[in-house]
Amino acid sequence: MSVDVTEIGSIPDAWTRRHLLGLEDLSREELNIVLDSAEMFRDATDDCTRKISVLAGHTCANLFFENSTRTRTSFSLAMRRLGGDTVDFASGSSSMSKGETVIDTAKNIEAMGISVVVCRHRTPGTPHLLANNLRCSVVNAGDGPHEHPTQGLLDILTIRQRRGTLEGLTVALVGDIQYSRTARSNIWGLKKLGAHVIVCGPATLVSPMWRELGVEVSHNLDEIIPRCDVLNLLRIQFERQSTRPFPSVREYAHLYAMNRQRMDRAKDGVLILAPGPINRGVEVTTDVADGPQSVILEQVTNGLAVRMAVLWLVCGASIREAE
Ligand code: NCD
Repeated sequence: MSVDVTEIGSIPDAWTRRHLLGLEDLSREELNIVLDSAEMFRDATDDCTRKISVLAGHTCANLFFENSTRTRTSFSLAMRRLGGDTVDFASGSSSMSKGETVIDTAKNIEAMGISVVVCRHRTPGTPHLLANNLRCSVVNAGDGPHEHPTQGLLDILTIRQRRGTLEGLTVALVGDIQYSRTARSNIWGLKKLGAHVIVCGPATLVSPMWRELGVEVSHNLDEIIPRCDVLNLLRIQFERQSTRPFPSVREYAHLYAMNRQRMDRAKDGVLILAPGPINRGVEVTTDVADGPQSVILEQVTNGLAVRMAVLWLVCGASIREAE
């Protein structure tokens, strides 16, 4: 069943971006526009289960040059919930394996009448390169270790829904800060919305230089746990590391896995987040991942709402610019 589009109206005047490339350059007002729009879509579509045809006639191309389950499915479903179409592009079977550049590939896809390209690539800056060379909208779905704006937004939306505000909360990002794009997008978004951010993990993955972004740096999870309102448990990005950042996974889990004993020392009502995929027993134990404080699956539903909001906003800005 679909929802009446007149319930939604047009995009806010303060939103003028055709692309969403990162949270670093978004203002507090723009962050709130995306979060409020996501709430609106969640409400208008019974938790993103119904269609609202505001992007009928538009097509989104998923250009994923890296593996993905959740993010690609979420973008595809979001576009379809908005009444649009999607095409998936698998880099392995494309003309890129015949030597075509990423810009040429994307331009050819754009020439087929695409409104928005969603790009994931191992090289930081690839979505920015596409945004500079394409006429359609571009959304960054993860550029190497740099940014993953929709993941940052869905994490923040999940916290805001549970706590009402980000202002004054202490949020710890635990694990592989060095190689995690989720960490960077969270830091930019959380700081602008008034949260105190702690980055915590082994010294090989959490450099003191992070302090320059205005965050607290810790290597001792047990010390920070009692102060945290939220713990966002990040996966170790082994695929991006050339050397092992710690002697063994068991040793990492001993010091940094969120487990029952550590939960006993946490604040009442602490929220446990993880972007997924989770490695049970490494960054989080099963009882905590599936326990009452875990909002991991709420994050996934909010991902759909955030991506509906982002696709609607960037396509809306494109349409307005063309008018
Ligand atoms: C994250 C990513 O790809 O950066 N996952 C995701 O988008 N759901 C985090 C991760 O892979 O650990």
